[in-house]
Amino acid sequence: MTDQLAATAAAMVERGKGILAADESIGTMSDRLQQVGVEPTEENRRAYREMLVTTPDLSNGVSGVILCEETLRQSVADGRPFPEAMQALGLLPGIKVDTGARPLAGAPGETVTEGLDGLRGRLSEFAALGARFAKWRAVIVIGENLPSARARHANAHALARYAALCQEAGIVPIVEPEVMMTGAHSMSDCAAVTAETLAEVFAELRIAGVRLDGMVLKPNMVVPGKDSGETPGPEEVAAATVGVLRDTVPASVAGIAFLSGGQSASAASANLDAMQKLPAPWPLTFSFGRALVAPALEAWAGKAELWETGQRVLAHRVGCNTAALAGNYSE
Ligand code: 13P
Repeated sequence: MTDQLAATAAAMVERGKGILAADESIGTMSDRLQQVGVEPTEENRRAYREMLVTTPDLSNGVSGVILCEETLRQSVADGRPFPEAMQALGLLPGIKVDTGARPLAGAPGETVTEGLDGLRGRLSEFAALGARFAKWRAVIVIGENLPSARARHANAHALARYAALCQEAGIVPIVEPEVMMTGAHSMSDCAAVTAETLAEVFAELRIAGVRLDGMVLKPNMVVPGKDSGETPGPEEVAAATVGVLRDTVPASVAGIAFLSGGQSASAASANLDAMQKLPAPWPLTFSFGRALVAPALEAWAGKAELWETGQRVLAHRVGCNTAALAGNYSE
């Protein structure tokens, strides 16, 4: 069981491949469909995910796809459940298992991610449905006197308990503490908060007994707040990000797969490219959501005749990011 965890984690971050995050909750996915003029029905959410995962040759640049629970239980048009169709396409099925960030008592403006109650039973069901890895996202906001030690600790503790439960079920946890880009904070504020957060997360993972070679870390890149007015280039973002990770993440972690966090698709790719030029003990890859799928969703827009156009746009973005992994990204 444990060797299998390490093997799955290694496959998720295999050289030259990243992870596609297509696990928006029903509410978020419905909003995004409506923004491109598509009715937010269960069938349209299903069709959109089928369009993504059946993109020809997706597995050349994508090791696995994170789904939400709704999609994990749905089937592709020929009747096979998504996990079965994905395995046949060479894609590892993943599942988002947190139930969302909710206000944390005693911490105004901050949240704790929920979903631990009943998680052991849900994980064994998800494993039986074919899930090989899971995801849990904690949200850390930077603001005046934020994040609080209380919110950081509550989130780090929950991430560690989630990760231990995943490994018990033979599922590789993606541990995602996201320091948000929203706000006017500087890049050095982001670096400091990311470092403190990761240090606390790894302390909690150790206490919980989580095997580091059987997990993948999904952090934010170190970037300035959206409203800061700072505009660092990819080399600066890469140096700050890899610097913080080298200070805080044990070398035995199987790999690091970044979220895009609201960066433009091209900025996320350029930053990923610049990181490949720096020494690091782990594979550094992508687990982008918006930076991979937003252009494809817009191109498809729910129209059957634009299905292949949407897939081509996704394939282009995946190609940009696999080029970045080889250190030769250009649009
Ligand atoms: P973004 O790349 O859009 O930030 O999404 C990644 C993700 O999985 C967030 O949990």
